[in-house]
Amino acid sequence: MKNFRGSLIRPVGLPDSASHPVVTPLSPSVVYASETPDALDDQYEGRVHGYTYSREGHPNADVIAKRLDAMEGASGGIVTGSGMGVVSAVLLGLLNTGDHVVGGNQLYGRSLRMMKEDLPRLGITTSLADPCDIDFMRAAIRPETRMILVEVVSNPTLRVADIKGIAELCREKGLLFVVDNTFTTPRGFKPFDHGADIVIHSITKLLAGHSDVMLGYVVARDPALNEKLRVFSITTGMTPSPFDCWLAERGLLTFELRFDRAQETAKRLADKLAELPGVARVLYPLQSGHPDLTRAKNLLGVQGCNMVSFELKGGRAAANAFTRAAAQLNFAPTLGDVGTTLSHPASSSHRALTPEERAALGLSEGFFRVSVGLEDPEALLSIFTDAVAQAVPDAI
Ligand SMILES: Cc1ncc(COP(=O)(O)O)c(C=O)c1O
Repeated sequence: MKNFRGSLIRPVGLPDSASHPVVTPLSPSVVYASETPDALDDQYEGRVHGYTYSREGHPNADVIAKRLDAMEGASGGIVTGSGMGVVSAVLLGLLNTGDHVVGGNQLYGRSLRMMKEDLPRLGITTSLADPCDIDFMRAAIRPETRMILVEVVSNPTLRVADIKGIAELCREKGLLFVVDNTFTTPRGFKPFDHGADIVIHSITKLLAGHSDVMLGYVVARDPALNEKLRVFSITTGMTPSPFDCWLAERGLLTFELRFDRAQETAKRLADKLAELPGVARVLYPLQSGHPDLTRAKNLLGVQGCNMVSFELKGGRAAANAFTRAAAQLNFAPTLGDVGTTLSHPASSSHRALTPEERAALGLSEGFFRVSVGLEDPEALLSIFTDAVAQAVPDAI
């Protein structure tokens, strides 16, 4: 034990121990004390590593960043207080007034909002295009385009982007290729192996996996971009809470097991739903009949993804009956939880769209997106089979 300087002053240091904890300690300290001004100089000049003020970095955030760096095959990534934090850091921290950015037309709702509302307000122009069709992406490029942002598997229609085509387009035009890998995760897809320059994640979802933390992660191939992102995230106060990072590390330790189990069950659920007379159609990237099956096989291999979407016959009335009949499952607008969650885009994520816009995306009142969790697969299939039968009793 180091000395105590007085009864009103905090103890400095922990009891000496020849052994060390097997769990990462939680470090909630906002400030870090240095020995001398020279020692502080050494830290600020990068001659030694150390912390000063937790908005600028803390051990629990660094532990998560290093784990995700290893998973994505990268280095120098940063963690922010939510997934939208990293989306904002990339779009606002790397683009300048006068620049143009192309986004996938089915990005996560808040990312779309930033493209449509916030960037134009700051003089950054944007276009949205179908990332499954390289001709549309190419047509959206302008002389001032700097970046393309896409998700690999779109939400909630589970279309698979033409990653190879977009990577080639970015190389040809000298654009930054940003991939939001939240749905697919580093277990299902490795964006850097497919030409991405920047990878982002909402850790909140499958990586942390327990619906109890919000965090984001971003890493660039180019260290200079990582430094820009780091400085921007510090200046704009995107700092993650040490406790959230600590919880997320606990989640990450089981991520691969959870992901493999969930995606295996997702495949089975997709097959089961396809047999049910009350279901009009099923969308699962690795199911025969999916419009992007070949691409999904090439990009996702056997890892697939844990998301399945389907359309019930019978519209809103059937949808209401279905969530009541499947009351063991959370009807909640999230994904990647340990439990299966149901989301109904027409009443939640896509409610701001007109019925015509929803129809163009194929999002009827009977459309559900399922994030498959870790329940016993047989029990889960029975819940769906029974709930569909109750919701659409007359289906043939
Ligand atoms: C693909 C994708 N990217 C980014 C986000 C934003 O993440 P967060 O909710 O952690 O801010 C989400 C959230 O659902 C998402 O689904």
